[in-house]
Amino acid sequence: MSDTKQQLEKLLADSVLALATADETGLRELEVRLLGRKGEVNRVLGAMGALDVAGRAELGAAVNAAKNELERAIARRRQELSFELSSALAENDWIDTTEPGTVAAAGHLHPSNAAINEMSALFERIGFRRARYREAEFDHYAFEALNMPKDHPARDDWETFFIDAPEDKKMGKQVLTPHTSNAQNREMERRRPPIKMVAFGKCYRRQSDVTHLVMFHQFEGLVVDKGISLAHLRGALDHFAKNYFGTERVTRLRPHHFKFTEPSFEVDISCGLCNGTGKVGGVSCRVCKSGWLELGGAGMVHPNVLKAGGVDPKIYSGFAFGWGLERTMMMRAGMNIPDIRLIYNNDKRFLDQF
Ligand code: FA5
Repeated sequence: MSDTKQQLEKLLADSVLALATADETGLRELEVRLLGRKGEVNRVLGAMGALDVAGRAELGAAVNAAKNELERAIARRRQELSFELSSALAENDWIDTTEPGTVAAAGHLHPSNAAINEMSALFERIGFRRARYREAEFDHYAFEALNMPKDHPARDDWETFFIDAPEDKKMGKQVLTPHTSNAQNREMERRRPPIKMVAFGKCYRRQSDVTHLVMFHQFEGLVVDKGISLAHLRGALDHFAKNYFGTERVTRLRPHHFKFTEPSFEVDISCGLCNGTGKVGGVSCRVCKSGWLELGGAGMVHPNVLKAGGVDPKIYSGFAFGWGLERTMMMRAGMNIPDIRLIYNNDKRFLDQF
């Protein structure tokens, strides 16, 4: 018996030392080697058979005590190891909560949307009400009510993208708005004079070059009241041009022909890229070629258009204008946009400039 006891004590002494310094894997191996079913502690029990009853009880108690001590030593080491691990983690993997965070890049309005807001505010300042009408419009509003009967050659530039939608018996086919002038009759049907409206909308045409887009915006102005004259039209356009472009830029009205206004004009502005000279670095300005760039059309509303809108031309008169938004934007001092198509290329480097 004393042999076995000595054996047990030696096992304990050796193991407690080994356990105190074991790493994670060593600890698992030691646990199996000492306390496993075929482990060293159980092997000591094998000597029981040769003992008498008293000897067996004594050995049994000694083995249990040794087992408990080993289990405690294993649990202690396990706790130490887990503490070491979490302190190592805390040292290498910490977060400095005082460090400034990464700021997400803030977006901004597309230059066209920013221009819509700014231009609209300029007109609202002189009493215009902002409106918005359809982008897919019936033939009636896009042409017929604008004094352009079916098959009239004036339609040629504008009869563009008809859509595959059911035709209305009275209103005709539907077309993607080639201009925003459909807003004129829509507004007259919605409100009685006095009318002072500015409508922004998308337009679609079969054109693409330095000054033309397939999809662009126009803003349409309409004023209808008693005694409205050309002087009012000039006043409204000057107000806009002076406030948007600055007093040093010049606009001019050039006689033109539109079926829905009489008299009609095209409105030009002195080019901001070549300062109205028509030349950049000795060669012809790519954008205007002549020192002037056409921004839009304007005129006094034709009596037939007033009639189509249910307004009596003997009592009321009005003026209307329709300008290209992107052209207007391009012509602002400092914009320096050499090709109108850049505006919708979705190149972030270009857009971030604004
Ligand atoms: C019209 O669209 C008339 N509805 C304007 C009008 C309204 C006249 C009310 C009288 C009374 P026009 O086709 O000229 O007119 O176009 C007007 C402006 O839209 C042009 O001067 C130009 O600034 C812009 N524009 C026309 N086509 C394009 C295009 N493809 N890309 C970019 N801007 C364009």
